[in-house]
Amino acid sequence: MAAAEPLAFRFSRAARTLKLSWAGLLSPLDLSPPQAALLRSLLAHHRTDIRELARLLDSDPMKVKHLADQLEEAGLILREVDPADRRTRALTLTSRGRERAAEVERLVQEQERWLAARLGEGGMAELSEALSAMEAVLDTTDHGPAAWDERHRRQPFSADPDPLVLEVASGLRAGRALDLGAGAGRNSLGLAELGWTVTAVDFSKVALDQLHNAARERGLEVEAVRADLLRYRPPRGAFQLCLLANIHLPEEQLARVLAVAASSLARRGHLLVIGHHAETPGEHGPRHHGLLFTEELLSRLLPPELAVVRLERHLRSHGGDRADTEDLALLLVARRR
Ligand SMILES: C[S@@+](CC[C@H](N)C(=O)[O-])C[C@H]1O[C@@H](n2cnc3c(N)ncnc32)[C@H](O)[C@@H]1O
Repeated sequence: MAAAEPLAFRFSRAARTLKLSWAGLLSPLDLSPPQAALLRSLLAHHRTDIRELARLLDSDPMKVKHLADQLEEAGLILREVDPADRRTRALTLTSRGRERAAEVERLVQEQERWLAARLGEGGMAELSEALSAMEAVLDTTDHGPAAWDERHRRQPFSADPDPLVLEVASGLRAGRALDLGAGAGRNSLGLAELGWTVTAVDFSKVALDQLHNAARERGLEVEAVRADLLRYRPPRGAFQLCLLANIHLPEEQLARVLAVAASSLARRGHLLVIGHHAETPGEHGPRHHGLLFTEELLSRLLPPELAVVRLERHLRSHGGDRADTEDLALLLVARRR
């Protein structure tokens, strides 16, 4: 019997065929798949700019600009100065663009129905599960350690601690702090400088290597633990401060990590969560809008043994090549009862 064709090749071929069939479905609309993706994104997000669209589409801003030029020429989108921020030009759909985007949406549903009719409900669920398993194994998602390693390697994050973290920590008596998803440890090192004994946890080896090097250079000591936050179990009741800075996870995972964070706190210990607000105007934070913070989300997921002390929005400005855009952060400080 001939050896079965390797799974990876079958998978690539199926993806290629699906792509071709999608391009064929779109051709009567005179749209390419990337143009259709941009229209769908604008239909879902109503009014947005090139950077945000590039983030949503996981694409390069130059490519997105090129697509936007084509769609503007075809009369499907409009670009106008954003009254909220005169430096950016907001993109919206024209009425023709909205009609075309709705047709694209109808074709997306048609394609799903076509698949479902052939695979059946069980088959769709099995395929979806198999694809999730494959994404996890290949770590192709935005959330896996390999993706984070790559991000830390390519573009090291700012070395400056978050001033809000320092402000909150300076108001507390220094003790043991747990920095969950510490990255290269800018906040861990800032806390160590303030006299805290810090344990930094992250699953990115590259980030923890950067942390080690920075700690050595600055003569500071931070205990670094390489672990997945979804599996890590810190000692219970051992910390006076637990920090989650810019950790944006799917809701169910965030709830689990918050529960673990709460369990790590001693009585009257503080939890500090800071991250990108869903209403942030810039291109900061995770690409998927659903991962951004809102007051409602953090209040709802907060474990019952914690009481809110502060829940505030703060505008943060970033240095380097992102200095031109502001980032709206949400800060939560809660205390263990
Ligand atoms: C945006 S960075 C934030 C780093 C740091 N907290 C800061 O504010 O500078 C997110 C970090 O969380 C880590 N991370 C994300 N998901 C994780 C998980 N499930 N387990 C451990 N670390 C995780 C990533 O490796 C990355 O270093």
